[in-house]
Order: sequence, then structure tokens, then C-alpha cells
Amino acid sequence: MTSSMILVTGGTGYIGSHACVALAQAGHELLILDNLCNSRADVVDRLEILCGTRPEFIVGDVRDAAALDKLFACYPISAVMHFAGLKAVGDSIEMPLEYYDANVNGTLQLLAAMRRAQVKTFVFSSSATVYGHPASVPVREDSPRSATNPYGRSKLIIEEILDDIHRAEPDWRIARLRYFNPVGADESGLIGEDPQGIPNNLMPFVAQVAVGTRELLNVWGNDYSTPDGTGVRDYIHVVDLAEGHVAALDYLTRKGGLLTVNLGTGKGYSVLDMVKTFEQACGHVIPYKIASRRAGDVAQCWADPSLANELLGWKANRTLKQMCSDAWRWHQGGQTHCRIQSDQ
Ligand code: NAD
Ligand code: WQD
Repeated sequence: MTSSMILVTGGTGYIGSHACVALAQAGHELLILDNLCNSRADVVDRLEILCGTRPEFIVGDVRDAAALDKLFACYPISAVMHFAGLKAVGDSIEMPLEYYDANVNGTLQLLAAMRRAQVKTFVFSSSATVYGHPASVPVREDSPRSATNPYGRSKLIIEEILDDIHRAEPDWRIARLRYFNPVGADESGLIGEDPQGIPNNLMPFVAQVAVGTRELLNVWGNDYSTPDGTGVRDYIHVVDLAEGHVAALDYLTRKGGLLTVNLGTGKGYSVLDMVKTFEQACGHVIPYKIASRRAGDVAQCWADPSLANELLGWKANRTLKQMCSDAWRWHQGGQTHCRIQSDQ
């Protein structure tokens, strides 16, 4: 039996699965808990290939206190990486109760079970969405926070909960990692973003146009005060993001405390930059049309990642070209391959 394991909630999901690979490569043993509401169990088969060993995998819900207690009793869990949750801004506006239950209640149940088991090292998937409409760019960790939708508010509430817990019990070791725009896929093409239904986010939509699943891309507005008029964002390769999680866990193990860092590249790219770069990756035109702005969008948002660099010695280094070529490889083969397999 191994000496210690990392519990990865949401570990068959997009970012969680990539974090599993990075954790395994750093020598950690893994236990995945996922209710499969937005992922497939066959991700574990592919993680076995990428990690070199098969992670332990339990189908379950982070809101199930009894199931959580059983996990902590049966496995030598030393830390928790918490990816499980709902993440679609639009859905959160239509279904706030479901979002607060999954995200806030789910996190509370998990933290309470951790405390019952005296496991107090916790890495939380926060989001740049806690900055609302950032007053200025690049965005620093001390930039004002605000929420513009229930999803973002659920992340903000959890960040405040974690702050209060650490204040009351300073022996907790907590990282609040604020992701900007994760995109791309493992270079193997075996795992990647596999959104159910119509993608809300730019990269998976562009990829689906590229493979022919979708006819054309709607560019939500080209009248923003940006170089080409389209929205500018800080796209970060999901493998860079995963490596940032390993660095954050190492930091907590060594120093403890309450860590809050932006995980971004510090560079902003426009929608049309993304389209052009994806066309180079896939080798053909991505048809698009300019449509009206999407409600709630900001003109530009990118990170100041210098604090993560200083404290964690971590820096995102994969280019937009790599993000697009890795996503293209996944959408060309991996995703189709997995769907065929899982549909059989
Ligand atoms: P994802 O939907 O691919 O992964 C989430 C995983 O959690 C899925 O496998 C899903 O089945 C599982 N899950 C959901 N609710 C659960 C529950 N109650 N119990 C157990 N499992 C549950 O999403 P992702 O893009 O990998 O995001 C992971 C985390 O990162 C989320 O918390 C999200 O809010 C956060 N985040 C994502 C982005 C992004 O752009 N993808 C940006 C910032 C933050
Ligand atoms: C990026 C740019 C759009 C789709 C969202 C969530 C945020 C976080 C990351 C969870 C914008 C434009 C998009 C399309 C387009 N998720 N676009 N046509 O909005 O920056 O952030 O994902 O934490 O919470 O809000 O990412 O990929 O949706 O949009 O023109 O079909 O692409 O207007 O400028 P966003 P996105």
C-alpha cells in the first residue's frame, strides 16, 4: 500500500485529468473521485497509459459526506486537489441553486470531511472570473474582486470560506489558484476538453468548426477597444496549468499557509489571433462571421503571473501555436476515438 495519495476530485474532467498526469509524473499516487456528470469513465483508461499506472477511481459525488468519510478511512490521502464542480457561466444564470449546491455545498462537504480525517492540504480551482470586469490589465492578485454571475459568485464565496478557515485554523495549507483561460490538450491526443453539448468557450468551438462538427464561428463583437476589435484573453495551455498545480502542492508541503496566485501567461490574444493560429494548426480556413457582443463579456483580460513565478518558480511557457496544435490533435483523433470506444 502506498504511503500517501492525492485525492483529485473531478479527476476525469478536462483540467483534473491533465493534473493527474502532471501529479503522476511528479511521483504522486492518485485517487480520483468524479460523479461523471461532465466526463467519461474511459478517461481513466487513458490516464493509465499516460501516468504509467492506473489511478484509483471512485464514481461518487463530493456532496456525499458518507462516501467521503469512507474514502478518507480507506485510502492514505495526504492532500486534496478539488476540480469537481460546475463551470458554465450561462447555465449558472439559469440554475443558480444547482451551481451553489455543486460548487459551494460540494466544497463545504469536502472540507468538513477533510477536517474529520485531519487532512488539511487543499488546492482549489478558482477562476479569473472572481475579478469580474477587471478595472485594469494585467490583473494582479490584489485587484478588486467582484462577481457578475452565480458561477463567479460561487468561486468568490469559496475563496472567502477558505480565507476564514485558514484564519481560524492556521494549520490548514490552502492554495487558491485563479485560472485564466485554459485551452489545449496533452500532446498525446489521448485526453482533452470534451464539452457536452454546444461549447460556450472559444477554443472548443473553433476546434469543432475545424473538424466540421459546426458550420462556422460567431465572433461575439469586433467593436471592442482592442487591437483588432475582438475580445482579448489570457489563454494558457492546460499542461502548463497542470504543472502549476504540482508546483502549488509542493509549495504548500514546504511552506503551508494560504497561497493565492494567478495562473496565466501574462499575454493577451484576440479572438482573431486564435482563429488565425488555429487555421495554421489545422491547415484550412475556419469560417466565421462577426456577430453582436455576448452579454457580460469584457474587452480584455490577462494575468500578471509574476507572483506565481516568484513563489512557485512556475511559468507558463507553451505558445498559442502549441495550444492550437495540441487541441487540433485531440479533436481530430482522441475525442472521436474515445467517443467511439465509449459508445460501443
Ligand atoms: P470539467 O467539467 O471538465 O471537470 C469537472 C469534473 O468534475 C467533471 O469530470 C465532472 O463530472 C465532475 N463533477 C462535477 N460536479 C461534481 C460533483 N458534485 N461531484 C463529483 N464530481 C463532480 O471542468 P474543468 O474545465 O476541468 O474545470 C475544473 C475546475 O476548474 C472547475 O471547478 C472549474 O470551475 C474550474 N475552472 C475552469 C476553467 C475553464 O475555463 N475550464 C477556468 C477557471 C476555473
Ligand atoms: C473568450 C473570447 C468571447 C466563444 C470563460 C468563463 C470563465 C472561465 C473561462 C470558468 C471572448 C469570444 C467565445 C464564441 C467568441 N471559465 N468568443 N465566440 O468568456 O473569457 O471566460 O471561460 O471559470 O469563467 O467566463 O472565455 O472562451 O467563453 O471567450 O467570439 O463562440 O472568445 O467573446 O472574447 P471567457 P470564452
